[in-house]
Amino acid sequence: VDILSGADGREDLAAYRARGGYRGLTRALAMDPADVVAEIEAAALRGRGGAAFPTAAKWRAVREAPGDRRHLVVNGAEGEPGSFKDRELMRRSPHRVLEGIAVAAHALSARSVTFYVNDDFADALDSLRRALSETSSDADPPPLPEIRLVPETHVYLAGEETALINVLMGKPAIPWHKPPYPAHKGLYGEPTAVNNVETLALAALILERGADWYRQRRPVLFSLSGDVARPGVYERALGTPIAALLEAGGGGREGRPVAAILPGGYSTPLLTADRFDLPLDYDALRQAGTGLGASVIAISADRPLSEVADEVLAFFARESCGRCPTCIRGCAAMSERMGRLRSGAARPEEAADLAGQAARLRHKGICSFLDTAAHFAETAVEVMASPQR
Ligand SMILES: Cc1cc2nc3c(=O)[nH]c(=O)nc-3n(C[C@H](O)[C@H](O)[C@H](O)COP(=O)(O)O)c2cc1C
Repeated sequence: VDILSGADGREDLAAYRARGGYRGLTRALAMDPADVVAEIEAAALRGRGGAAFPTAAKWRAVREAPGDRRHLVVNGAEGEPGSFKDRELMRRSPHRVLEGIAVAAHALSARSVTFYVNDDFADALDSLRRALSETSSDADPPPLPEIRLVPETHVYLAGEETALINVLMGKPAIPWHKPPYPAHKGLYGEPTAVNNVETLALAALILERGADWYRQRRPVLFSLSGDVARPGVYERALGTPIAALLEAGGGGREGRPVAAILPGGYSTPLLTADRFDLPLDYDALRQAGTGLGASVIAISADRPLSEVADEVLAFFARESCGRCPTCIRGCAAMSERMGRLRSGAARPEEAADLAGQAARLRHKGICSFLDTAAHFAETAVEVMASPQR
């Protein structure tokens, strides 16, 4: 393990230093910020918050935006169903996250650092607070910037970057229409980088070991859950075959075969077992019509896919923030139709009706929420009808 410590408990400052911790920060601080961004670019680091956006491009956009007051917002919201790797990272290796924050703050020449943490994560918050107090009382403290820790009652949409910025400014958790992107107008209307906690942890690792090392190893965290024998957080290389990750998790629960997965939590289309040789990598999964997120949810052969699809669409119907009438009504309607398909109450043509309705809803919302739900519904109808099942 490189991102996490090997042990299950909270890694303290001494233990973190003993495995090379804060060396990346020392190296970064001796470098020009532009060179730090170049190192992250050479490593080809992509964001681990879901959208896989190239981190260096984001940091460069923030640096090049007009205005010299720049901000870093750290996203520790982790509301995606089935995802718990950020929580585990903050709980087990809080210093890895803090070091990454400091590297990013230097790369951005950030004026402020605000760290949003889902306040359901008492264990992670406790670890972070203890890590911060350890650093401030240390004889030779690591040079961290001031970090404002903001625990907030969580709703799913608050993890979306513009909604998150609104929350940090005391407004409701409702996204705004981009552009303007946070890189240009974010917190207080000023250039802001919003980054996921794991992305920042990886930035620390890249500065510690170098871009070449990172490109060869490509470690990331996967949350593995659902119908597997040993659910948990697995540190594996990007590109690990799906079958290998499932095997690491002990295979299907109670020896039952895994028939399908959701490769990126509820935000990605279902993928059936005939594709389990595919690598867990962004481009390969996109080409296969789905996508890579952070949480792989396994579905056993004895669970009807209509049940899973119904749960996913019920989640979207529940979590729509309500700003776009099309989103709130569209998600409710898709969920109701999938419910009828699941219960067997649907007329034969309703599957095609649902797919058509989903297709019409694509690109109709302010953020990507409605798109994600609609894409899921459309592809779920296809997968449910495929001979695989
Ligand atoms: C509905 C929705 C929910 C999101 N929730 C989270 C979240 O809980 N945590 C997270 O890091 N990113 C979440 N994101 C992605 C963020 O908007 C943003 O892309 C991410 O924080 C950027 O960080 P990265 O570039 O380091 O990946 C969400 C996006 C959407 C559309």
